[in-house]
Parts: sequence; structure tokens; C-alpha cells
Amino acid sequence: MSKSSIKQKNSEQKNNGLIENFRDCLPLEEGIVPVSLSEGFTPLIRLHNLPKAWGLPTNTYVKYEGLNPTGSFKDRGMTVAVTHAKGEGKNAVICASTGNTSASAAAYAARAGMRSFVLIPEGKVAAGKMAQAIIEGAIIIRIRGNFDHGMEIVKDLAPRLGLAIVNSINPYRLQGQKTAALEIIEILGRAPDYHCLPVGNAGNISAYWMGYSEAAGRAGYCSENESARLPLYRNAPHSVSSAPVMVGYQAEGAAPIVNGAPVENPETVATAIRIGNPQSWKMATASADESGGWFRTCSDDEILAAQRALAQNEGVFCEPASAASIAGLAKDAKDGKIAKDALVVCTLTGNGLKDPDIAAGGSDAIDRVVDAGADQVSELIKSNL
Ligand code: F0G
Repeated sequence: MSKSSIKQKNSEQKNNGLIENFRDCLPLEEGIVPVSLSEGFTPLIRLHNLPKAWGLPTNTYVKYEGLNPTGSFKDRGMTVAVTHAKGEGKNAVICASTGNTSASAAAYAARAGMRSFVLIPEGKVAAGKMAQAIIEGAIIIRIRGNFDHGMEIVKDLAPRLGLAIVNSINPYRLQGQKTAALEIIEILGRAPDYHCLPVGNAGNISAYWMGYSEAAGRAGYCSENESARLPLYRNAPHSVSSAPVMVGYQAEGAAPIVNGAPVENPETVATAIRIGNPQSWKMATASADESGGWFRTCSDDEILAAQRALAQNEGVFCEPASAASIAGLAKDAKDGKIAKDALVVCTLTGNGLKDPDIAAGGSDAIDRVVDAGADQVSELIKSNL
């Protein structure tokens, strides 16, 4: 390859981050300097083996958000929220978190030269997420309570202390997260028939629906900046024929939306979605209602089985909460709620490396210690060929 074609290739592949690439779709002031870690543009992977093994629709894709800079979809929202906060002259951010938001907030705050304060439920955050917040210099406040308690404290204190809230109640978060839907449309050349994703605080399903609605509402969705109108969530236009049906999955022990009532003591192995009173509850139900979608629960066993099946059949390692999208899809496909010939996208919200203890603990891997000799090793290989 000649020098000049290498140069051209590099510039084509350059990812300057979401704000640079979707600036026209985002309600940020002209000239604002993005706080970015080159987030977004995550792979949309078509599943080859799992559809057959698990009875999923043949055309099932996963949007692997675990490949964002801090390993979760939160980075899409965080680049926009932190950019806006910095642009407003704030010098510190705060959030309540089940782990991923805190990791992302800490990273983007570090990048911006801002302080970050993160409230997390003591003992209920996966090891990888804790490590991130620690190394990225967040001030970590472990509360004796759950995410919902943390959220109330953050809402109370942030205005009094002049801190920018970077939870998804910050509308700039959802604006950033909607770009995942736009990327999917760009890659597929259309919207999927169904979009399946895990639901915790319920921001992400709302953000996807906003993205799909804006895209379906007008051709060339990036050409105008309609979304600059705050409040940022707008109802889907009537012509949503190419928008997907939105399907949200909650863990059985943390399923307020499915139950229709807050859960006081949410519990699930999928700690990322261990939430009993989602802040974006109304927007999430509107997303399902407007798109003809629904919410459903998955048990912890179903979630863990889906996580392992995805890894073993496709080599894709997501965290437990993310696997709820696959677990739920399997149930909806089995029941005939989602047809086998439908085009489906599942969001894999976070990287499996975030929560190594769960993966290692539940594994049925063959994992032996033998003496360091060819005979011993070959014996083990032969018995497993
Ligand atoms: N999946 C993962 C891996 C998450 O971290 C979260 C939320 C969700 C799904 C649910 O998304 O809240 O928009 O419905 N994590 C937040 C956090 C609550 O603090 O990291 P949602």
C-alpha cells in the first residue's frame, strides 16, 4: 500500500468521537470543545451460531457496547453530559451508580480535568467497575443502601453544591445515547424490526427510542438540529413505519416496570440493573407503548445461561445485565412474540470483563493443573478432542 493510500485509510477510520460525528443531531453549542475518548462506533455483530442453538431469530445482531472506552454504553451519554457541564463552567460531576456510570463519569471527568463524586451501593458493584472508578480518581462514596437511595441523595445535593448530575436524568446523557440507534440504522440501512435491551434506570431504552423516532420522523436525520429543543424527549412522529418495536427486559428481582410498582429491595445477580425505582420510568413505558413493545422479566439463571451461551457460541463476552437482552429474546422467540424471520438487534450494554467473578464462578470450563510434561498435557488434550 502506498504512503498516501495508508494516510487516506487512516483518516477514513479516524474516530473523533460521537460529538464530532453526530454534532448536527446533538443540542450542543457551536464551537464547544468535546470531552471525548473516541467513544461510539461499536461493532454490530451478526450472530452465527446462537440463533440455531437457542432458537433465536436467524437475523439477530448484537450491538457490542462493551467496546466503548470504559467498557459500557454509558460513554455515549457521558461525552455529551460532561462536555455540556464543562462548557457551563462546572468543575465537578456527581452520580449514583450501580458501577458503569461511575466508571464512565470518573473517566470523562478525568479527561476534562474535573472532579467526580460517585455514590455506589456498598458491596454491590462488580470488581472491574470499582477498579475503574478507583484508578480514574473518583471520590467514591459507598452508601449503605441501594442505587435508588443514592439517586435521591444526588438529586438533593447536586443543586445545593453546584455539581453537574451525570445520571441519565441529565437530558444530555440520553442525547448521546440515542446515537447508538443512528449507528445501527447507518449500518443496516434500515431500522431493525425489534430492538431488545436490558432495563435498569430505564434511560437507555428511552434514548434508543428517541434516536429511532428522530430517524424515522424525517429523512436525513442529521441535517437539522431539531433535538436542540429542550426538554429533549419528543414524541415519535406518526410515520414511524421504519422504527423498531422496543422490548425491555428486567431481572425478576428488580422488575418495577413489569410489576407496575417500585421494588423496595431489588435483588439480582445482574447488579448493573439492580434498581427498584427507575428515574426514566415514564419515558421507557412511552417508548414501549409508542413502538408497540413490551417489558418482560428474566430470572437470574436465565440471564447467566444466556451470558455463557453467547460467549460459548459466538465468542462475545458481555456482563450479566447485558445478557438479559439475549435471555429475554430467547423467551419471546420461543413464545412466538418475536417471529423467527424478524430482524432483531440486542444491545450488549457492558463488557464481560467488568464482572469477572460472576463469569469465573459459574463457568463449566475444563480447567486443570497438571505437571509440566508433554505426556500429561497430551493426555488431557486427547481426552477432550
Ligand atoms: N446494562 C448495564 C451494563 C448497565 O450498567 C445498565 C445501567 C443497564 C444495562 C440499564 O440501563 O439504566 O439506562 O436502563 N447502569 C447504571 C449505572 C444504572 O449506574 O451504571 P438503563
